[in-house]
Amino acid sequence: SNGVRVAIDGPSGSGKSSVSKKVAAHLGIGYLDTGAMYRALTWYCLDAGIDLDDTEAVADAVAAMPLEMGTDPKAPSVSMGGKPIDADIRTTRIAEVVSKVATNLAVRPKLQQRQRDLMREIAASSGGVVAEGRDVTTVVAPDADVRILMVASEEARLARRSKEVHGGVDETMLAATRAQIVDRDKADSTVSSFMTAADGVVTLDTSELTFQQSVEAVLTLVERAT
Ligand code: C5P
Repeated sequence: SNGVRVAIDGPSGSGKSSVSKKVAAHLGIGYLDTGAMYRALTWYCLDAGIDLDDTEAVADAVAAMPLEMGTDPKAPSVSMGGKPIDADIRTTRIAEVVSKVATNLAVRPKLQQRQRDLMREIAASSGGVVAEGRDVTTVVAPDADVRILMVASEEARLARRSKEVHGGVDETMLAATRAQIVDRDKADSTVSSFMTAADGVVTLDTSELTFQQSVEAVLTLVERAT
C-alpha cells in the first residue's frame, strides 16, 4: 500500500501538534509539521539577509534553502544544511514575522507542492503519515484518507499556549500569549481558512478534552477510515 495519510489543521493552541505526534507514534507512521517549514523558511531568509518584504526573493528561497525535515514523530527535527534549527525556529523573533512569509502568495504554492511530495514519500516509506498545519486538509492533501479540523475555544487555546510558553496562566502571561497567537491566527486566516471546516473535513473540538481523549478521538477516526 501507499500508506495512510492523515491531515490535521487548526489554529495555535488547538492541540494539533502534540496530538499529531502522539497519533503518528502510536500508529508507527511518519509525521510532518508543515508549520515548521514556514518557520524554517523564515529563519533561512533572516539568516541569509533576505528582506521579508521582497516577496520574489523570499519565494526563490524555497528552492534554494537546504531544508531537511526529520519525520520520526518521537524525535521530529528540522535542519538547514545539516545544522539543527529546531530551537531557533520556535523563538518569538520567528513567531512574530512568520505570518509575513506565510501570507506571501508566491511562497505558498511552492511550499505546498513540497509538502504534498513529502507526504507521499513519507507515507510510502513509513507506512503512513500524519501531517499538520493550516491548509493540509484543504490545499496540500484534500485527498487524504482522514481529514480533521482541530478546534478549541479561545480560552482553552490561550491557557494551553500560555502554560507551554510562559509556564503558567496568570493575567500577564495570558495577555502576552493573546498578543502572540490571536494576532498570528488573524493574519494567517487571510490566506487559509482553518477556523471552519471545509466539506468532508471532521471538526474535533478539544476544549473539554484531555490530551489523551483527543488522541483517542483521532485514532477512532483513523480506524473508521482504514
Ligand atoms: O503551526 P505553527 O504555529 O508552527 O505554524 C507557524 C506558521 O506557519 C503559522 O502561523 C502560519 O503563518 C504558517 N503556516 C501556514 N500553513 C500551514 C502551516 C503553517 O501558513 N499549513
